[in-house]
Amino acid sequence: MVSSVATPTVPEGARIDVPAGQGARIDVPESKGARIDVRNVSHWFDLPAGPLHVIDELDLSIAPGEFVALLGPSGCGKSTLLRLVAGLEPATTGELLQDGAPITEPDPSRIVVFQDPTLFPWRTVWDNVALGLQARGILKAQRHRVDEALALVGLQDFAKAFPHQLSGGMAQRVALARALVNDPSLLVLDEPLGKLDSLTRLTMQTELVQLWQRTGFSALLVTHDVEEALFMAQRVVVFSDRPARVKQVLVNDLPYPRHRGDARLAALRHEALALLGLDASW
Ligand SMILES: Nc1ncnc2c1ncn2[C@@H]1O[C@H](COP(=O)(O)OP(=O)(O)OP(=O)(O)O)[C@@H](O)[C@H]1O
Ligand SMILES: [Mg+2]
Repeated sequence: MVSSVATPTVPEGARIDVPAGQGARIDVPESKGARIDVRNVSHWFDLPAGPLHVIDELDLSIAPGEFVALLGPSGCGKSTLLRLVAGLEPATTGELLQDGAPITEPDPSRIVVFQDPTLFPWRTVWDNVALGLQARGILKAQRHRVDEALALVGLQDFAKAFPHQLSGGMAQRVALARALVNDPSLLVLDEPLGKLDSLTRLTMQTELVQLWQRTGFSALLVTHDVEEALFMAQRVVVFSDRPARVKQVLVNDLPYPRHRGDARLAALRHEALALLGLDASW
């Protein structure tokens, strides 16, 4: 019964700016998270058959320390948007800003975690996590950060293990530690739990939320799992088919820790599935 729940939503095509602080976590007063502004961004890929329009006049902001999730049909442009936000490629038109400054290239303050942990098999867990600091030439002075990142994901006892000695969940935790060692102000998550079994996935959803609460980064999560998006994020942006446009924004103001059986989550789930055209069997 969606109508019985007052769900604050933003209509299609509307700008979804959130004033700094609104929707931010309550337990950490000052957030070190980045503010991200995507302003009127459109993106095309040049293909032999002609240009492929992937993102259409998108406006989206993330408040410092906010957790935002993106849901949308496969191929609509979610990963492309993450690549633009990460600075891995420039938008065809429009602008992307981090704390007011244009995003023009990758930066250790914005780290992407993908579905695949892509660890180097010949390096230990510790050495895999150390990679970012090593590449920046600051490992020698900052070795403690590797230990801290491993402790954050509960893998301090596996520092000397090699990737083949880890479970899938543990390998993904190493990938998270490898991101967190950079102390990012924005964590960009592209289906980070997509390859895990369902029980590990539920555990890691809770762990990721706790990490976010403890460390204060802003988070931008792409997932195909509607429950995951609603369980973890404060706002869930539902995209249209390609080219991606904002179809609706679902605001989830439930406090953390959340309970999966919460009636409000069920109502929001129904709403999200309807927006994705998947509610016929509800
Ligand atoms: N580098 C590229 N060159 C050409 N086309 C691309 C490139 N990257 C993505 N595309 C195309 O852009 C569209 C959007 O791709 P994208 O990976 O952003 O989708 P997505 O929403 O992340 O999909 P999924 O949910 O399946 O991961 C697809 O049609 C894809 O084929
Ligand atoms: Mg994708």
